[in-house]
Amino acid sequence: MPLPEGKIAQPLVRPAAIGDVPVIHHLLEIYAAQGNLLPRTLSEMYRHLRDFFVIEADGKVAACGALEIFTDDLGEVRSLVVDDAWKGKGLGRMLVERLIEEARAIGLKRLMALTYVPEFFHKLGFKTVPKDTLPEKVWSVCVKCYKYNSCDEIAVLLLLK
Ligand SMILES: CC(C)(COP(=O)(O)OP(=O)(O)OC[C@H]1O[C@@H](n2cnc3c(N)ncnc32)[C@H](O)[C@@H]1OP(=O)(O)O)[C@@H](O)C(=O)NCCC(=O)NCCS
Repeated sequence: MPLPEGKIAQPLVRPAAIGDVPVIHHLLEIYAAQGNLLPRTLSEMYRHLRDFFVIEADGKVAACGALEIFTDDLGEVRSLVVDDAWKGKGLGRMLVERLIEEARAIGLKRLMALTYVPEFFHKLGFKTVPKDTLPEKVWSVCVKCYKYNSCDEIAVLLLLK
């Protein structure tokens, strides 16, 4: 899809590489400290590196996001961050569109996210759903999360055709 006028011309979306980990980790730490994202340790980052995609803009990592697989049909968009300097320029959309494409390509049927910015996901076709419609996530991951008893994140879901 062409980028709207005034937005970045040719940022590159690509799978993350080992050398990107410190930058991705730093981006995630900023938002984890604010409680907007779950923190991820460096060793967890290396183990899950193949879930991650980044956007390179002006030769630097300007955004990151991961596609995590839960079950034979459900995946999750995780650890999605656009660097402050690049917000509002279409990078978040571009990255999630790539994660959607990947999810389809591997045969997933549903893609979810837990988020404080449901409006952003709505723009990409996701719908807000009750969390209890995603028991795979709640019972495998959320129960171990420090927010479990007080989670105020909103669940959004995209059905993949
Ligand atoms: C949320 C985030 C990823 C959006 O990335 P972005 O590059 O700024 O968003 P885009 O420019 O691609 O916006 C795509 C669309 O969503 C809308 N949008 C983006 N952020 C929004 C927000 N916070 N509230 C409402 N709409 C929003 C844009 O207006 C745009 O709409 P349009 O297509 O009609 O023009 C980014 O702001 C971010 O990193 N936030 C902090 C971390 C975070 O909350 N991550 C999500 C965790 S699930």
